[in-house]
Amino acid sequence: MIKKGIILAGGLGTRMSPLTKAVNKQLLPIYDKPLIFYPLSVLMLAGIKEILIIVNKGKLAQFKKVLPNGNNLGIKINYAEQKHPRGLPDAFLVGEKFIGKNNVALILGDNFFYGQSLTKKLKDCVKLNEGATVILHPVKNPSAYGVAKVNKRNKIIKIIEKPKKNFSNLAVTGLYFFDNKVVNLSKKLKLSKRNEVEIVDLLNQYKRKNKLRAEFLGRGGAWLDTGSIKDFYDASAFVAALENRQGLKIACLEEIALKNKWIDKKNILDAIKFYGKCEYTQYLLNLVKKTK
Ligand code: DAU
Repeated sequence: MIKKGIILAGGLGTRMSPLTKAVNKQLLPIYDKPLIFYPLSVLMLAGIKEILIIVNKGKLAQFKKVLPNGNNLGIKINYAEQKHPRGLPDAFLVGEKFIGKNNVALILGDNFFYGQSLTKKLKDCVKLNEGATVILHPVKNPSAYGVAKVNKRNKIIKIIEKPKKNFSNLAVTGLYFFDNKVVNLSKKLKLSKRNEVEIVDLLNQYKRKNKLRAEFLGRGGAWLDTGSIKDFYDASAFVAALENRQGLKIACLEEIALKNKWIDKKNILDAIKFYGKCEYTQYLLNLVKKTK
């Protein structure tokens, strides 16, 4: 069972400068909320209450302003700094103490997931006792991602980071579930040509031992990542279209916490005070009115 989750929200965000000169990428808006609300909502939907957010050196204060400690969400948010972007598996070294003897989920701070039965899939993934699970989803431009090929029984037979030659349209999304061995395995990783430790090297070690499983969001699911300014606009348009049509918010953290029974009306009222008068708190207010 996985009860702890890490959000890797560091990186320099240089591709989005000047927007990221003063503000961390994960605090920039996807429509009506900071980007980091979306990966945090995914961990919360999975039922994970103990969370470590890894941020860039010097950026802690910014994050704590909007996500202080998780009290109002009925969760515990811990923070750690990454000295420099050494690669995704560095999360397990920076987070070693937080992880302790537990299994752990990792989500990249710039990943967005949405879709029918997402919560059920997440709840299945956190049942992991041994090995690792990745979520695969088709994309038009696989060479921009980690890519996996699966056989007829959905077993991963090949996994490569940003392949030059196209061999599959299944990208490895930025949501991973690992057993506790991940910490020691990460310590042994060598730096790649681009001077980083690579998540696919880690995944290949699990694959070699026949311990790597694939999960799928399915065609009705959406996975977006937000590496560029265009991606931010596309994701914002997606959220705006759905929210304004349905009147239901995506990644409203308080709503998820309330549904999970981690908080009550009083916490929502505290959140309203905390955020101040805005469209988001109008939504929270309606939630309070609907709650008995
Ligand atoms: O989004 C999914 C993809 O994420 C996977 O398909 C790839 O296999 C995986 O390597 C990763 O690829 P990216 O090219 O998107 O990785 P990037 O270096 O851009 O890092 C992703 C996010 O993680 C980014 O928001 C910054 C953050 N990050 C990255 C590194 C390397 C950190 O916080 N620390 C780091 O050391």
